[in-house]
Amino acid sequence: TSFTDYQAESATISQGVVESNHAGFTGSGFVNYDNVVGSSVEFAVSAAGAGVQSLTFRYANGTTADRPMTIDVNGTTITVSFPGTGAWTTWREVSLNATLDAGGNTVRATSTTEGGGPNLDRLRVSGPGDTDKPTA
Ligand code: GCU
Repeated sequence: TSFTDYQAESATISQGVVESNHAGFTGSGFVNYDNVVGSSVEFAVSAAGAGVQSLTFRYANGTTADRPMTIDVNGTTITVSFPGTGAWTTWREVSLNATLDAGGNTVRATSTTEGGGPNLDRLRVSGPGDTDKPTA
C-alpha cells in the first residue's frame, strides 16, 4: 500500500515545541505537546481523490496515563486514546479511518487532558482504511 508521511515537526503547532531528545523518532524530531488541555498539531493533508483512508499516528507516551486527543478531520471529530508506551523512546502507532476530500484536508490532533498530548512523531496517510477501525 502506498502512503504519505507528514512529520509533526513540520506541521502547524499550537502550544507545543519541537524536540529531539528521545531517540527513535523519524524525520528531524517530534512535537512535545504542552501539558495542557487544547494543545494541538495540525496537518495539511493532500488526497488525490475523495474516500476513506487510514490515518496512523506515531507517538510515544512515557507515562502510565492515557493522553487522549481529539482527531478532527475537516470538522468531524473523534476521541482517540494514546496509552502509555513504556518509555519516551518507545514509539507506537495508533490508526483510525477518515473520509478525506479530494485535494486539501485539515487533520488536527488536540489534547483533551491536563497532561497534554503524547510526543507525536508523524502522521502516515494510506488508503484504503482497515474496516475494523473507527472512522472520523
Ligand atoms: C518529559 C519528557 C517529554 C514529555 C513530557 C510530558 O518531560 O521528557 O518528552 O513531553 O515529559 O510529560 O509530556
